Amino acid sequence: MLRTHTCGELSIKHINTTVTLCGWVQKSRDLGGMTFIDLRDRYGITQLVFNIETNKTLCEQARQLGREFVIKATGKVTERSNKNTKIPTGEIEIIVDSIDILTPASNPPFTIEDNTDGGDELRMKYRYLDLRRSPVREALELRHKLAMATRNYLAGIGFLEVETPVLIKSTPEGARDFVVPSRMNLGTFYALPQSPQTFKQLLMVGGFDKYFQIVKCFRDEDLRADRQPEFTQIDCEMSFVEREDILRTFEGMIRNLFKTVKGIDIPELPRITYADAIKYYGSDKPDTRFEMKFVELTNLVKGKNFKVFDSAELIVGICAKGCAEYTRKQLDELTEFVKRPQIGASGLIYARYQNDGTIKSSVDKFFSTDELKKWTEAFAAQPGDLLLILAGEQNKIRKALNELRLEMGERMGLRDKNKFSCLWIVDFPLLEWNEEQQRWFAMHHPFTSPNPNDISLLDTNPGKVCANAYDMVINGVEVGGGSIRIHNKELQKKIFSKLGFTDEEAHEQFGFLMTAFEYGAPPHGGIAFGFDRLCSLFGGVESIRDFIAFPKNNSGRDVMIDAPSKINEVQLKELNIKSLL
Ligand code: AMO
Repeated sequence: MLRTHTCGELSIKHINTTVTLCGWVQKSRDLGGMTFIDLRDRYGITQLVFNIETNKTLCEQARQLGREFVIKATGKVTERSNKNTKIPTGEIEIIVDSIDILTPASNPPFTIEDNTDGGDELRMKYRYLDLRRSPVREALELRHKLAMATRNYLAGIGFLEVETPVLIKSTPEGARDFVVPSRMNLGTFYALPQSPQTFKQLLMVGGFDKYFQIVKCFRDEDLRADRQPEFTQIDCEMSFVEREDILRTFEGMIRNLFKTVKGIDIPELPRITYADAIKYYGSDKPDTRFEMKFVELTNLVKGKNFKVFDSAELIVGICAKGCAEYTRKQLDELTEFVKRPQIGASGLIYARYQNDGTIKSSVDKFFSTDELKKWTEAFAAQPGDLLLILAGEQNKIRKALNELRLEMGERMGLRDKNKFSCLWIVDFPLLEWNEEQQRWFAMHHPFTSPNPNDISLLDTNPGKVCANAYDMVINGVEVGGGSIRIHNKELQKKIFSKLGFTDEEAHEQFGFLMTAFEYGAPPHGGIAFGFDRLCSLFGGVESIRDFIAFPKNNSGRDVMIDAPSKINEVQLKELNIKSLL
C-alpha cells in the first residue's frame, strides 16, 4: 500500500507515530510561517502542517499544491494546539517531512464540500467529483449496508440469489420496454427486463423454492423523484406458500433492515384493504405517519341549496387539528393549491371551529350554526380545529384531498423524516377497466392470482374480483409489491382471455410459461421491493437519484457519458437500421 493509514483514523493514540497518508487536497491555508493542508480520502480529513522555518523548500512545495491534487505525505502525528471537535481527526495533525505529488489536478468546476456551490446538472456532469463529497459517499455507503443486510437476512432464511438474463423478451408490466436490436437475428429485438417476473416464476417451476436477486430493472416511463429508467429491485419468490407466508417473511425482512441498519424497532405492520385506503386516504399509498383521515359528508350536507354540494357526487373533508387560526392568506394559498391543474379541485370549503366554540365557515350563508355543529361532530373536531372540504366527482376529489392532506401534513410538521410508518395494502382489485381502450387491464400483472373466493365472479362481475396481491407502503411511498401467482394453466388462460389476449397472442407472448405450467408448477408467490426507494427512505431524502452512483437526469440522460447518443453508420448497417440522420 502507498499509505500506512487513512485520512479518517488517526487520533491522540497515534501521537509520535510516523505515518504516510494519500488523498486529495481539499484546501490549503497560508498563515504566515505555516501552511495547512486538509487532506481528504473516503474516510475523512486530516490536517497536514508545513513550517517555513523548519523546512522552507517543503513548505514552498506545499504552497504550490492546487485543489484536488492527489498527494502522498509522510510525517509525524502531533497533538493540535487548536483542536477541531467537529471531525474525528480534529485532535491531531501531521508535521510533514515529505510529499509526493501523485497526480496534479485541474481546478474543479464546483467546490467539493458538503455544501457545494455546484448545481444539479453540473454535479451530474462531473459525478465522479460529486462522489468525493461526504453526503454522496454516505448515501452510497447506506445503500451498501442495506444490500449487505438484505443478502444476509434472506440467505440466512434459506433464499438463494440467482441471476436472470438482461436480454429478454418483453414482459407486460405496464410501462414501455427498452429494446435492443439483434444483429444475429436481423429485424428482431430483445427487451430489457422491466422485472424478472416470468423468470422467477420459472425458477419456482425449476424447484428453487426460495429465490431472491438484487437486480437491475428497466422501464421506459416518465421520470419523477422516485422513478429512474433503470432502477434496482430486491426481487423475491417462494414456492408452497400462501399470502400470509409472504407477508410474514417480508415483514420480517423489513423490520430486520430497520433494526440492523438504523437501529429502529418497527412494530408489526398493520394491514389496510385497498378499498379502505382509498376511502380514508384517497390513495393506495397513504402516508400514515399522521391520522387526518377522510370524513365523508355527502349525506349530511346535501339539499341545503348550496349548488356546489348539491351537484357533487362526493363531499369529503379532513380535520386539521389546531389550525383554526389559519389566516385568510393561508386559506387562500390552500385554495390555490387545490385549484392547480395537477390537483384539479374547483375550490375549497373551510370551517374554522374557533377556540370560543363558534364556527366560521366559507359557506355561512347556506348553513346554520346547528348544521355546522353537526359537521364538527362528524369530524370529531375540537375547538381550535380547521375543517377543509372538497366536493365533486369522487375519484378526482379523493385524489385532490389526498394531495391536500399531504400538504397539510407537511405544513403541520407531521411528516418527520426520522419517523417511519410501515403498512401493507391488501385486496387490490384484480382488473381495472380502461375506458379509452374499452378493455380490462391487470392492475398488478397478468400472473396475479384472484382471491380464491372471487374466482366465480370473473365471468359475472370482473371489476369486483379481488387480487391476491399486496403492496408495502412506508411513509406514503410504495416500496414493494407482489402477489400470489396463478400456477394453473387453465386459470392463466382464462385471465389472458379476460385481458383481451387471443389464444394465439397469449401463446406468442407467454407460451413458454404456459408450457412450463404443464410440467408441475408449485403454488408460488412473491414480491419485489424498490431498492433505490428503500435507500432514499432510510436516508431521509426524497430523490432516489442521490442513492444511485451514476443516475440519469429527468429526461433519462446520463449527462456525464452523454447517453443515449447516436451510433455510427457501421453499427446501424450491421443492424440493418436505416440512419435517422
Ligand atoms: P412493481 O412494478 O410493483 O412489481 O415494482 C416493484 C417495486 O419496484 C419499485 N419501482 C421503481 N423504483 C424506481 N424507479 C422505477 N421506475 C420503479 N418502478 C417500480 C417500486 C415498486 O413497488 N414483478 C413485480 C413484483 C412481483 O409481483 O413480485 C413488479 O415489478 O418500489
